Amino acid sequence: MESMAKLREEYRFTAEDAGNLLDLMPVAEEYLNGLSDHFMQYLTDIPEAQKIIAGNSSRDRLEAFHRHWFRTLFQGTYDDEYLRSLKRIGQAHVRVGLPVHYVNAAMNHVRHAIQHMIHDTFEDRDQRRLYRESVDKILDMNLAVMTSSYRDEEMRKVFVSR
Ligand code: HEM
Repeated sequence: MESMAKLREEYRFTAEDAGNLLDLMPVAEEYLNGLSDHFMQYLTDIPEAQKIIAGNSSRDRLEAFHRHWFRTLFQGTYDDEYLRSLKRIGQAHVRVGLPVHYVNAAMNHVRHAIQHMIHDTFEDRDQRRLYRESVDKILDMNLAVMTSSYRDEEMRKVFVSR
């Protein structure tokens, strides 16, 4: 993934999507504590995740990282700096040996939590659909970049072993 402009084009992520996410920022701030608790509880329930956290981080550090990430979803600016930050996150997970499956599963939980947030906040059906579509795009773009780090690592291993 060379540039954010290319990624945005591939996902048909428009300026309207960026504006929708920025609109959601105040709502996301309101839901942040609940979502963060939900996410941390999800991690606590997975014994393998617990081992990874114990060996590489701490609950507080991890919570702070994940809260910050959640906020950046709604920051409204999605440029190459944003892309670099997503690559760093992907590399951090590869470094701690987190199976990619958990990244996908965690994202699924985050997606559902945000869907509930939108559903509970907005009455207008069309508005809800537009917000949901923008959220889906940014989460899928996040996932695309984060999971590509695993493939990059595989490729690196293949080349190093030659
Ligand atoms: C690090 C986000 C899933 C464990 C990070 C960082 C972010 C992040 C932003 C900090 C990267 C850095 O700048 O160094 C996410 C997102 C996830 C996800 C968006 C999925 C939606 C998970 C899961 C685990 C996990 C399922 C399970 C244990 C870790 C660990 C670190 C980390 C151990 C390193 C923390 C440290 O250096 O202290 N993650 N994460 N993450 N994440 Fe995740």
